[in-house]
Amino acid sequence: MPARSIEQVRNLCKRRGFVFPGSAAYGGLGSFWDYGPLGVEMLGNVKRAWWRDVVYKRDDVEGLDAAILMSRKVWQHSGHEATFSDPLVDNKKTGKRYRLDHLLEAQPQRVLGELLAHINFASMPLTKLVNIAPQSVGDVDYTMNPLGAIGHLAAMLIESRMHHVSTDRLVRWLAPILVVYPERELAINKAGVIDPSTQEVGEWTNPRNFNLMFQTHIGPVVRAAGSEEELAARAYLRPETAQGIFMNFAHVQRSLARKVPFGIAQVGKAFRNEITPGNFIFRTREFEQMEIEFFIKPPQFVREGEKNDAQWHDEWIKQRYEWWMGLGIDEARLRKREQSADELAHYSKRTVDLEYLFPEFGWGEVEGIANRTDYDLSAHSRDIPAEDLARLKLEPNADSVEKFDYFDPDAKARYIPWVIEPSAGATRAMLAFLCEAYHEELTKEPPTAEVDAIKAEIPAVIKNAQKKQKDAEKEADSAQRKHDPAAIEAFCAALEEAAARLPQSLLEIDALLSEHSGAQNLEPVKKLQPKVNKLAEDCARVVLKLHPALAPIKLAVFPLKKNKPELVDIARRIAQTYQPHFRTVYDDSAGIGRLYRRQDEVGTPWCVTVDFQTLEDNTVTVRERDSMQQQRISLEALREHFFTRLHV
Ligand code: GAP
Repeated sequence: MPARSIEQVRNLCKRRGFVFPGSAAYGGLGSFWDYGPLGVEMLGNVKRAWWRDVVYKRDDVEGLDAAILMSRKVWQHSGHEATFSDPLVDNKKTGKRYRLDHLLEAQPQRVLGELLAHINFASMPLTKLVNIAPQSVGDVDYTMNPLGAIGHLAAMLIESRMHHVSTDRLVRWLAPILVVYPERELAINKAGVIDPSTQEVGEWTNPRNFNLMFQTHIGPVVRAAGSEEELAARAYLRPETAQGIFMNFAHVQRSLARKVPFGIAQVGKAFRNEITPGNFIFRTREFEQMEIEFFIKPPQFVREGEKNDAQWHDEWIKQRYEWWMGLGIDEARLRKREQSADELAHYSKRTVDLEYLFPEFGWGEVEGIANRTDYDLSAHSRDIPAEDLARLKLEPNADSVEKFDYFDPDAKARYIPWVIEPSAGATRAMLAFLCEAYHEELTKEPPTAEVDAIKAEIPAVIKNAQKKQKDAEKEADSAQRKHDPAAIEAFCAALEEAAARLPQSLLEIDALLSEHSGAQNLEPVKKLQPKVNKLAEDCARVVLKLHPALAPIKLAVFPLKKNKPELVDIARRIAQTYQPHFRTVYDDSAGIGRLYRRQDEVGTPWCVTVDFQTLEDNTVTVRERDSMQQQRISLEALREHFFTRLHV
């Protein structure tokens, strides 16, 4: 079974050097993470596996590494400066800040109904509403009629109140409406919106939009924000790598004499000042993306037998889905989700998200595959015909000196190519692969008598914990409490549930007893924990069943005895042979059993042990991580053994 909680993965990542909290010596910095020795290897492997698949294995994709900082005009014409924002709101009582859509999602239906009742749609400024108009409402297409869409939507919401609208759809509309509605502060407060952190009605500020791009300046700036000098020097840390690709479309096409269709791939850092980052490295403010912009013929130039935009889109969805599966994601936890018309980004004709079923918080997007049409290349081009500007809802671009069009020698015509964009998160992918690979399992059947003894002690542990919980609840002054009653309650529930699954749950119970906050300072816990820990060490293991291509360490080499120089010499020589090719480690710091466990925990697919038989016949033991099977292989055959299995 894959990881049950993000906490399990986070603990392992910290304990074994994958991911550490950033700036920890100064108390950390909101959701920034440092990638340790094993993390940097694994993240590098994720990116390499992607690059191999989308660049090396294809004939029609080139690579690129564009600068993180680009002209501010890029972000003005891409639409990010005006619209790349999330709505936020603060509770004046608690000081808590929320993304408005997340806050609304956490409300009971009753409160959303109240909110609807307090919005007077008829009084809303239609000019503002045009920007948030959906492309369709129900079955009606409103692409060319935004005011009609708003009218239909408002009527539907007012008439049906909640009946025909699911909560998430309703929230998608209410959040942007609440940011422009003149009486929004009144409405949100009259509706009695609840603060999820206290479960009490909050006292809310005006909901407002917050741009997610981090600002910086090129060169020294002495004048105030918004001054001419400040605006001229202002730059943004890129919130997506895609725009760097659009900027280089013509460079790549001309310098490599590429014919459409072809793609440009880029891996790199992106930054978003997320209002609510979280779930470990799932949503962070600094992250890495792996993006392809695949340039294709516009529909009117597609000839018989060639793929059109819809077919290219489907092809990329299939290819990308297979990449995730090929690296070990089970199909039960990977799905394609079609974005509804009202979810689509302003540039997208159709987007399909690939989602992974994460532990605890459920389905989360790991990649989006969008049909961006000719939106972006047109947005950055001068001299775009008026009818195309109207179709794409773009303003003429007087800043650009380029026209990103392409002469098609087959069609003997110039056109702006369309774009299919598969866009994945590298750091988010690493979390998905870690969750999928994490397993706790028995390595051998633990002695029944010892399991029974643990089972027999658990009711007493729970009874004692519940007594401490009651005592703590009686303590009027919470600052004086020795124990946290809520934490004890959670601990007891988890322990009871895990006890029913013994012996499979040995490691889980070990972690509960040693790490759960509700288990602290309880005497019976202190007595039971060493027994559980010993049995878990003897009979169970944590193993990361990572695809070998993703594993941070590919090979670990051990001498059976560290005080036998003849064994140590051979083991060191084997390690040195493979070190130039892939991450290989030599270790003699513990007994073989413990060394295997340590490597299992970080996902090392192969361990080689040099023993006395090696001195006789030049063979070593190769132990395979998942099956734990061992086979003897001659030193000469090792190279082929590893290289064929590492091939992706
Ligand atoms: N160029 C299109 C684009 O950037 P997106 O859906 O905003 O689309 C693409 O982002 C991918 O980047 C997501 O599927 C996700 O894997 C990753 N991503 C986005 N925001 C992220 C964040 N705050 N932290 C980690 N990964 C993120």
